[in-house]
Amino acid sequence: MDRLNQGLRKVPIWLLYLLGDLYPGWLLYLGLTGGLGPDPVKALEHALGEAALQLLILGLAVTPLRRFLGLNLLKFRRSVGVLAFTYVALHLLVWLLLDVQILSQVFNDIIKRPYITIGMVGFALMLPLALTSNNLSLRRLGAARWRRLHLLTYPAVLLAALHFVMLVKGFQIEPLIYLSVVLFLLLCRIRVVG
Ligand code: HEM
Repeated sequence: MDRLNQGLRKVPIWLLYLLGDLYPGWLLYLGLTGGLGPDPVKALEHALGEAALQLLILGLAVTPLRRFLGLNLLKFRRSVGVLAFTYVALHLLVWLLLDVQILSQVFNDIIKRPYITIGMVGFALMLPLALTSNNLSLRRLGAARWRRLHLLTYPAVLLAALHFVMLVKGFQIEPLIYLSVVLFLLLCRIRVVG
């Protein structure tokens, strides 16, 4: 594990941002060239939503991975969070601009469709985290307040996983697996904190 950690320490953060930024571009390219199937807007929405959830889970897993396996991904945590937020924002934009498009329908959906309401609340919780993810905010807020603010990650990830469970029709195992992983990681946190 020490070797792996040493190797990871050499990976520059910009590489993560570069790869993370290339992915939506790649999806857009596929969408424009017919590579996303018959409904590219839905496929784009799904791919971005799923990648966002996976990154949120990875961010939540950083501390347990270090505590229980000795794997140190701490250096990448902030960039993983920023990329997760970027994907959620793009997921929201695809929904707004390419899927629903009509403003009155947007408000109607937010109020009347519980999975959209839950997704919106999750997004709203992530906003202050994204806005304070820079060093200046960290200095201004002070480490203790910054850390306290970042506790918002926990409800945000939980709501994101619930959003997925609620939007699927009928019984599907994939969203339940995501929700179980999130619940497991949150329980790990309670144990760690306590
Ligand atoms: C907390 C942030 C969010 C995360 C992590 C997230 C994640 C996801 C995931 C994983 C899916 C399912 C993808 C699949 O089927 O493979 C999804 C679908 C979807 N999300 Fe989100 N989402 C978030 C917020 C939002 C918001 C704010 C909106 C809109 C207001 C939204 C609208 C949708 C829609 C419309 C779908 C597709 C539903 C369908 O199948 O018709 N999401 N999202």
